[in-house]
Amino acid sequence: MIFYDEKKRIFHLQTPDTSYVFGMYGDYIVEHLYFGPRLSDIDGIEPFKENDAAFASHNFEYHDNSIELSTELSLTEYSFFGSCDMRKPSFHAAYEDGSRITKMKYVSHKIFAGKPKLPGLPSTYTESDNEADTLELTVRDELTGLVLVYRYTAFNTYNAITRSVTVKNDGTQTVNLKSVMSLNIDFERSGFDFVNLSGAWARERWLERRSLGTGTTKVESRRGSSSHHQNPFFALCSRNADEDRGDVYGFSLVYSGNFEAGAEVDTYGRTRAFMGINSFDFNWRLEPGEEFNTPEAVAVYSDSGFGKMSREFNRLYRQRLARGKWRDMERPVLINNWEATYFNFDEKKLLEIAKTAKSAGIEMLVLDDGWFGKRNDDTTSLGDWYPDSNKLPNGISGVADGVNKLGLKFGLWFEPEMISPDSDLYRAHPDWCLHVEGRGRSLGRNQLILDLSRTDVCDYIVSFMTDVLSSANIEYVKWDMNRNMTCVGSAKLPPERQPEVYHRYMLGLYDVLEQITSAFPDVLFEGCSGGGGRFDAGMMYYFNQYWTSDDSDAAERMYIQYGTSLVMPSTFMGAHVSAVPNHQVNRTTPLETRGYVAMGGQLGYELDVTKMSDEELAEVKLQIDEYKEVRSVIHNGDMYRIESPFESENCSWAYVAEDKSEAVLFVFKLMVHTSTLPRRVRLRGIDTEAHYRLRGSDEVYSGAVLENYGIKIDQKRDFDATMLIFDRV
Ligand code: DGJ
Repeated sequence: MIFYDEKKRIFHLQTPDTSYVFGMYGDYIVEHLYFGPRLSDIDGIEPFKENDAAFASHNFEYHDNSIELSTELSLTEYSFFGSCDMRKPSFHAAYEDGSRITKMKYVSHKIFAGKPKLPGLPSTYTESDNEADTLELTVRDELTGLVLVYRYTAFNTYNAITRSVTVKNDGTQTVNLKSVMSLNIDFERSGFDFVNLSGAWARERWLERRSLGTGTTKVESRRGSSSHHQNPFFALCSRNADEDRGDVYGFSLVYSGNFEAGAEVDTYGRTRAFMGINSFDFNWRLEPGEEFNTPEAVAVYSDSGFGKMSREFNRLYRQRLARGKWRDMERPVLINNWEATYFNFDEKKLLEIAKTAKSAGIEMLVLDDGWFGKRNDDTTSLGDWYPDSNKLPNGISGVADGVNKLGLKFGLWFEPEMISPDSDLYRAHPDWCLHVEGRGRSLGRNQLILDLSRTDVCDYIVSFMTDVLSSANIEYVKWDMNRNMTCVGSAKLPPERQPEVYHRYMLGLYDVLEQITSAFPDVLFEGCSGGGGRFDAGMMYYFNQYWTSDDSDAAERMYIQYGTSLVMPSTFMGAHVSAVPNHQVNRTTPLETRGYVAMGGQLGYELDVTKMSDEELAEVKLQIDEYKEVRSVIHNGDMYRIESPFESENCSWAYVAEDKSEAVLFVFKLMVHTSTLPRRVRLRGIDTEAHYRLRGSDEVYSGAVLENYGIKIDQKRDFDATMLIFDRV
């Protein structure tokens, strides 16, 4: 709900558990007043009004009714370069006279039910207008005619506030937008810890936590994609916050390109949180009459630690970011041939894998890289999306039919955004890749990136994908992207628009994804970028699941899936059982452990099942049966992280059905050390008034005992794994 107090000129955004309050202070300052536990009313909330500090400048034009005000000392909802606020501005633009000063004055606001779509950009949504209220607050720069619309949505059943900004050029001059953040929140205090998810290829989204001192702390990507290295998410939390306790503010950007996200602590002890498209190397020329929309930022407040914050993000993203028929459907257990064969396969081999996989209960075969052009290694053929007749003499439809006849669905890998210099496509269109004339073309994994800022290139992708997907019974697509952007330039854009390429690429990509996913609504789309390189909220508007990491080792995956779960629900995480010794880290872990870790996501297999023993295949079959028993709780329930692999050699998490009737607890050991005794693991999120039976036994436990005393776990070998299912009696 959103309320407006006309007398005080204060807006009160309410979700079930939180309130977000801000107001107009005069006509020039939109002042942030509160974000925290839900308030029933705003009696007692008043403007901050501080103006007295040495070296804090006053801009007299900013005050109304003779109140002097320093914008540097005020807590603003959106901050402007040139307004005397010395902190990082949300907005920075350059005008034709060379000035970079912007001064925005209140024009109007409207509050309405529902949530509008963000043109051309992914965003959370409502299915009916009574799910949320939206406020649009319009401000205008009288000198330049530039108009900004601050958009806020408060959900009625999710504890999330979303924000985005539309810039409209209602003036007569071209405006160069240099920085337009999606979100700015000024907290009246400091003393926060900063938590982010950083990593590398095959080590995505490891947890990092540090104490904030004065100055700016931020995470960012300059790689043209949100990246393996930093995720467009961060949290500010009280120093004592843990999984179950403390204030946590989480921020997630629904965007997949260059971003910046962070916090600036000033010398007055306040903290500014910001998030948006990276202003580094960004410039957008906004012509008269044009509009620019920022991506959406999602803010979640939790008064009960990181666990609640994650459950809020997980639920919102699972239910109102993910779309399409697969959003609410159980996904097939798949086998992917990549780690089984790499490029070395043919139809016969694939059908052998499919046949054995079927006998173990697997439901879909995914044909990965190497099926097209002359692609026997990664040096060639991206762009030549016709089947290699040596490997697939009967084409894609031949192998798909063969797989279908064995009783499995068929899925196919693509890397549509890429082009190999050794490809017919490149020979025909050498200017279709991102490049800068005279600077050479820098390769990554031997390939170049198609210039998706161009509509002809986007049209080509839609057309070849449509052709291939229509040519056979393809029920799943893996959409990969295996390098970051370098030498970024477009042959189609004039010099002054070159700094727009990164963002125009994203707009092109989102448009292509929208067209293809809506043309093939029955196909299950899984995203991938060398594993989890672009695993962000922007992508999850189009893809129902995402290949979480190229590291398929069970122990490594504990860290990766634990970190990923801070924002992303298990239903998004592709997780496969692979061979041992593991191909990325050479580690050998038990099949049982690999299975239980992978069950924390969308379970799949990625190994040559034809080389497994009968006992191993029987174990796989058992795993899949067990998984099917619990997957609806894993994917539709609430996740509780219990033991963090970042803090000890123990890792555990649980999934609890929304009505608390069932809980699935996974407990893992990393390395065993001498003198380690059995431990008690305390289940979370269950009904403490009820009793639960341990499935497969006669043991009945009080919910309160399970939560507070815990259950004894005795794990004596490295990488031991335990799954326990509790049913309310
Ligand atoms: C990177 C992906 O993450 C892998 O799973 C695999 O699809 C390879 N690309 C294929 O080149």
